[in-house]
Amino acid sequence: MKQRILVTGGTGFIGSRLVERWWQQGHDVTVLTRRPHWAQERWSGMVNTASDLAQLEGQYDRLVNLAGEGIADARWSDSRKATLRRSRIQLTEQLVDWAQATDQHFSLVLTGSAVGFYGGFAGGDSRQLVTEDSLSGSDFSATLCRDWELAAEPLADLSKRSVILRTGLVLGPNGGMLQRMWLPFQLGLGGVIGSGQQMLSWIHLRDYCRAIDHICDSDLHGAVNMTAPIPVTNRDFTKVLGKVLHRPTLFPMPSFVAKLAFGEMSELLLQGQQALPAQLQKSGFRYEYDDLGRALEDIVSVW
Ligand SMILES: NC(=O)c1ccc[n+]([C@@H]2O[C@H](COP(=O)([O-])OP(=O)(O)OC[C@H]3O[C@@H](n4cnc5c(N)ncnc54)[C@H](OP(=O)(O)O)[C@@H]3O)[C@@H](O)[C@H]2O)c1
Repeated sequence: MKQRILVTGGTGFIGSRLVERWWQQGHDVTVLTRRPHWAQERWSGMVNTASDLAQLEGQYDRLVNLAGEGIADARWSDSRKATLRRSRIQLTEQLVDWAQATDQHFSLVLTGSAVGFYGGFAGGDSRQLVTEDSLSGSDFSATLCRDWELAAEPLADLSKRSVILRTGLVLGPNGGMLQRMWLPFQLGLGGVIGSGQQMLSWIHLRDYCRAIDHICDSDLHGAVNMTAPIPVTNRDFTKVLGKVLHRPTLFPMPSFVAKLAFGEMSELLLQGQQALPAQLQKSGFRYEYDDLGRALEDIVSVW
C-alpha cells in the first residue's frame, strides 16, 4: 500500500538509497533537509522536500529519523561532541514536538542509532559479543546513541510500531567509511590498525535497505542490530579489502599513532563490537551478503 514517508537524513549515504528505493516502489516520500534545492535537483522533483518542520502538512504513515553530523568527520573536541549530539538529539526532540503538536499517528517509526550503543571493546574482550539484549556502554559513542534513542522514545507512543536501527559499519560504493579507506588502500598504504583484534560489525548497503523493507513488512519492534551475521576482526577486514583490491596491506597503524592522529575519536578505530543481528535472523531475514569478501567484491565491481 502506498505510504506517506518522512525521512530525515534522506540526502545521506544510507538515506538517499532508501529514498530512491521507496520512491521507486511508488511511495510518497518527503525529505527533511537543510539542502532542499539540491535534493529537488537530485531527484528531479520526484521527492518532496522541506527545510523546516513547519512546512510539513497532513499525516505521515512512516517516520525515518537518520539525520546527524558525521561521527568521523572531525576530531572530537568538546564543541564537535556538542555538535554531534545536537544534530541528533535536538533534531529528534524537535520531531517529537512537531509530531505531538500535529497529532501524528504513524504506523511505523524507524529511529537511527548505531552498534556503538554497546560501547567499544578492545580485541580479546569477551564482552565484544553483543545482541539487542546487551546493555549500553559508557564511552562517548555509546552515550550519544543511548541519548539519541531516549530522545526518540516519545515517538513510539505516537506509532503502532517503533524500531531502533542499531547500525553497524555500512559498506557500499561511493560513501561511508569505505570511501575514507579507499584511497590509502588503492595506493597500497592500507594496514592493520592497533592490535587488529578489535571486531568490526559490517553490513552491505543493499542488505541494509533490504533489511529495512523486511522490518517494514514484519512485526519486529524495539532494537534491531543492522549488521551482517559474521563480524570480522580489523585484521581480517584489512586482509580481505587488500585482496579484493589486489593491493598489499603492509602499513600498520600502531595504537599510539591512531591516538595521536585522531585523539579520542581513535576509539572508533581501535575498539569495536561483535554485534549479532539476533532479531533479523530470528525473524527470517535472508542476507544476500553474509560473506565480507563477496560483499567487497560486489562493491568494488560498481565503484
Ligand atoms: N554509514 C554508516 O556506516 C553508519 C553506521 C552507524 C550509524 N550510522 C548512522 O546512520 C545515520 C545515516 O548515516 P549516513 O552514513 O547515511 O550519514 P551521512 O551520509 O553523513 O548523512 C547524514 C545526513 O544527516 C543530515 N545532517 C547532517 N548534519 C546535520 C545537522 N547538523 N542537522 C540536521 N541534519 C544533519 C544530512 O542531511 P542534510 O545535509 O540534507 O540536511 C545528511 O543527509 C547517521 O546518523 C549515522 O550516524 C551510519
